[in-house]
Amino acid sequence: MKIDVYFTPLGLNAGDLSGRGVVVVDVLRATTSIVTALANGAKAVVPAATSEEAVRLTANLEKNGYVLAGERKSLKIEGFALGNSPREMTAEAVGGKTIYMSTTNGTPALVAVQGGEPVLVAAAVNFSAVAERARGLFEERGDLVIVCAGREKQFALEDGYVAGRLVKAVRKGRRKIALNDAATVVLDLPSRFPNWAAALGASEAARELRAADLGEDVAFSAKADRFSVVPSIVDRRIVA
Ligand code: MLT
Repeated sequence: MKIDVYFTPLGLNAGDLSGRGVVVVDVLRATTSIVTALANGAKAVVPAATSEEAVRLTANLEKNGYVLAGERKSLKIEGFALGNSPREMTAEAVGGKTIYMSTTNGTPALVAVQGGEPVLVAAAVNFSAVAERARGLFEERGDLVIVCAGREKQFALEDGYVAGRLVKAVRKGRRKIALNDAATVVLDLPSRFPNWAAALGASEAARELRAADLGEDVAFSAKADRFSVVPSIVDRRIVA
């Protein structure tokens, strides 16, 4: 039985994920926004590698069926209807719509994990539900991969913390599970912080969000189990 964690999708080689169960994490903020949007009635979220790709994918679509969303340096992309704040993903803004989304680290990570089967989307806001699904998958297959989006091609504390909690929840005290080195390291993170808010709040990503006056997004993202939706990627569309 084996659990592999990747700090960023850059560590993935061709074939590493094929046919394996994968969980993707970008808790500040892309996966939190995706879970929130789907819980609030969005039809699907289509992750794009770049903002240009997001625009291109919508070129022939009926205007009132989709919304463009995304950020660069934490702020809404010019010309897009929504940024990447989970607080923007209200039923009024996204209900019944397909969201074409481009973010700095999160959506490229979601595009990079295409070989996985299934690919689940994790955040604190759906933690218990996604951990239960991941545990079921692990029991069935004896194998799981957790891919963190990271930040600017580097390890990100907030994603590592979520990954650590997931590894803990999935292995449920069992010792005889092969962990890669990244999985071994993230296992120490949950005990270093008293709660979600402290862990997410200590990250560089949280500092950047607070500097952009988006500190409330950190608080929103740190409130565990707001939703029970477990999004998964089907044919490049993320659905509830
Ligand atoms: C990302 O994809 O890099 C993040 O979600 C950044 C953010 O919007 O906070």
